Amino acid sequence: MRVLGRNDPCWCGSGRKLKHCHVTMGVGRSVPPAIARPPYARGLAADRPEAMVKDASTIARMRRTGALAAEILTTIADSVRPGITTDHLDELGHVLAVEAAAYPSPLGYGPKDNLFPKSICTSVNEEICHGIPGARQLRDGDIVSIDVTVYREGVHGDTCVSVPVGDVNDDGRRLIETTREALDAAIATVAPGEPLRRAGQAIEAVATREGFGVVRDFVGHGVGAEFHTDPRVPHYDEPRFSTVCTPGMTFTIEPMIAERGWRAELLDDGWTAVTIDGSRVAQFEHTLLVTEDGVDILTRRA
Ligand code: MF3
Ligand code: CO
Ligand code: CO
Repeated sequence: MRVLGRNDPCWCGSGRKLKHCHVTMGVGRSVPPAIARPPYARGLAADRPEAMVKDASTIARMRRTGALAAEILTTIADSVRPGITTDHLDELGHVLAVEAAAYPSPLGYGPKDNLFPKSICTSVNEEICHGIPGARQLRDGDIVSIDVTVYREGVHGDTCVSVPVGDVNDDGRRLIETTREALDAAIATVAPGEPLRRAGQAIEAVATREGFGVVRDFVGHGVGAEFHTDPRVPHYDEPRFSTVCTPGMTFTIEPMIAERGWRAELLDDGWTAVTIDGSRVAQFEHTLLVTEDGVDILTRRA
């Protein structure tokens, strides 16, 4: 499949170059018109706030979309090597989504005056999350977080991993493995009737044990027909967080763990969050479903 460039005529038939076309918002790669877009990518506001507990049809669709997100993420993660650009990872994510008749959820998401311009997020070293893919070449020793969200059958699936580029030093590898362990520990707390606060407690315990810090500025989130909805899921112990897990709830848990300081600031691109002290960060994310007797990971390969 050929991916259109920004100087190609837009697929919408306006005769404009892609980069000037309002239909594709000039934000990046194109998505064929036959692929259903989420409301924000059609210039629409979300309908009504989405219920936290999903019906059986939504859950069935989320299983399929979640499996696709996992599949795409694995393929991208396997292609990471020194010298590859983050834009190349983005192209791969975009093409794999479109070939599977899915819309890459980040593309055109966000505030009207600063839509996210790419199809995945790539965050390197001290970048915490929402890094914008570009010409940057990954170097031996880097840690790259790859966050894939796709939209198909009217629902999103959202998942992220951190990957070592070539040889990463001991502390960096420990950071990655600790963050993976923290997500697993958080998932293990999820069950009907359990306070969702336990997830943040579990993450904080694992991170603290290793002398690492948990980023507080970004939280897990409800997900379904909407990309980001209730509940907000803190990755640290938040006493005021009183949501209790109920069967049918779908949300992400996506801890970001910093080597030292977790305090964050935003770059002037309006998206990329970085640690103020330059600490490296790792992140893992799954989309989860509370079942009758526990939890299912929806972003798992079929
Ligand atoms: N996938 C991210 C999350 O886990 C959100 C990315 S939004 C974007 O919530 F616009 F930055 F892509
Ligand atoms: Co998410
Ligand atoms: Co994500």
